[in-house]
Amino acid sequence: MALVYHQHEVVIVGAGGAGLMAALALRGRDVAVLSKLHPVRSHTGAAQGGIGAALGNMEEDHWEWHMFDTVKGSDYLADQDAVEILAREAVETVMDLEHWGLPFSRTPEGKIAQRKFGGHTKEYGKEAVRRSCYAADRTGHMILQTCYQQGIRHQVKYYNEYMVVELLVESGRTAGVVAVSIADGQLHVFHAKAVLFATGGFGRMYEVTSNAHALTGDGVAVAWQAGVPIEDMEFFQFHPTGIYRLGILITEGARGEGGKLLNGKGERFMERYAPSMLDLAPRDIISRCIYRELREGRGIHGQGYVHLDLTHLGAKVIHEKLPDITDFVRTYLGIDPVKEPIPVQPTAHYAMGGIPTDMWGRVVVDEKNKILPGFYAAGECACVSVHGANRLGTNSLVDILVFGRRAGRDIARYVGENEYPPLAPHAGEATGERLARLREGRNGSGGRAESVADLRETLQREMMEKASVFRTSGLLAQMSEKLFELRQRFQNVVIQDRSTVFNTDLMEALELGFLLDVAEATVAAALARSESRGAHFREDFPQRDDQNWLKHSLAYRGADGKIEFKYKPVTITRFEPKERKY
Ligand code: FUM
Repeated sequence: MALVYHQHEVVIVGAGGAGLMAALALRGRDVAVLSKLHPVRSHTGAAQGGIGAALGNMEEDHWEWHMFDTVKGSDYLADQDAVEILAREAVETVMDLEHWGLPFSRTPEGKIAQRKFGGHTKEYGKEAVRRSCYAADRTGHMILQTCYQQGIRHQVKYYNEYMVVELLVESGRTAGVVAVSIADGQLHVFHAKAVLFATGGFGRMYEVTSNAHALTGDGVAVAWQAGVPIEDMEFFQFHPTGIYRLGILITEGARGEGGKLLNGKGERFMERYAPSMLDLAPRDIISRCIYRELREGRGIHGQGYVHLDLTHLGAKVIHEKLPDITDFVRTYLGIDPVKEPIPVQPTAHYAMGGIPTDMWGRVVVDEKNKILPGFYAAGECACVSVHGANRLGTNSLVDILVFGRRAGRDIARYVGENEYPPLAPHAGEATGERLARLREGRNGSGGRAESVADLRETLQREMMEKASVFRTSGLLAQMSEKLFELRQRFQNVVIQDRSTVFNTDLMEALELGFLLDVAEATVAAALARSESRGAHFREDFPQRDDQNWLKHSLAYRGADGKIEFKYKPVTITRFEPKERKY
């Protein structure tokens, strides 16, 4: 099949909050936004409880307190210069959303309403503060709608349902991407001066996850395949309250409104672990505490879940402030949260690691922060790093918007200063041949035909068992061997659908390849880091070890497929690392 060529000054891959915000910052430029989904189906829409910004609408608050909480929440691994930008620019970003018409929930006097969220405090840790600006429990969804509508208003060109499979780098410069149009299987080459990846996370490498099916690490894996390292992959966050077995998110905003976690004995067990912040301690801590309760036999009826109890909040608060989760619980569990507690378990939620960038979203490729010209990343697929070893709730929405916009602004500068890079005459052809082999069942070494669904299910189940909240070198080593086996079997994957039109079989095979990449990096990085910090908890090394491990990891894939690591220092400006108590 002949390739179709396009030329745009800027190609943005991903139409969640980060991609849309970057596109808005590039108004007036020739920008194409490519998305695997229709933009308003992007995973930003799943963020429920709010966006953190020290507006101080309900009580005194300051961006410095927000910065402190973020650094402490990160277990001191976040780069503090970047966190300062996040906390400062959060305020103007929320005001921009307000001016673009985002329907925030309101205080009686008409200001943007704010609620408590895990790890957000006043006066540097004194007590919980109301910082999360929310639109009921649909905040991400509203952000998506608002930014998409602004994009339409400013004539952003969207290529919907295009799946990016290759990053083009020519003579040390980014030259574009190769993408498949899902509707007809056509392969397209986009020649660009600058490319921004805003492709989201990869929670789908785990069995129980809050992440949409589309979150398979595409951008991270494609960048890695192009020789870019990936940073801090060992840190993957489990949100404490996913619907039992299904993983669907029940917002932390429910606890922000006063919801309580209870074990099988009816105890509010967080009193024992985080006496001051209780159910609003950061997520890494609460997820571990839930697992401890379960391991010690204090799950509900001895099963693998605890209860999130909202019944004391009353029907009015639940219906007005938490309507979506109420719907989910009624639909998926047949339970009315007004009358009964909700069965919950930790759910794979957020990748702190990703494509390394500087504070303008420029992708860096080594421990000295050398830039790959023309390549940018923002949002969950990127690692600035503002979340360090553990992200605070509400900070992902801040991150995507603040750093999406900063990337857009720097791209505007870059494309103004640079001509188009050369494009290799055969760009995209090898990828076209690889996809054709897969679609036509010509791949593999002649071994037993493997199914994508089987391999994916094994990957997700094994990752859950061996590389999730609690880790040991033994389990991680077993996972590493399992990944090796899965990688071999993946060579023999055969898909059933031979057609070109909406070939989801083919898409899922490509996505499985991406998931294997990110899982391999996660496990290798987790095995290498012999300490516990934030969401990375090694039972064989239960302490944080600042002397040896106050540093970011950079995973490189060598030509032989082996993963190697380099490390770079954490930027500390205001807050020296301390013990984390809540
Ligand atoms: O709990 C939540 O509403 C999720 C928000 C987040 O991940 O920031």
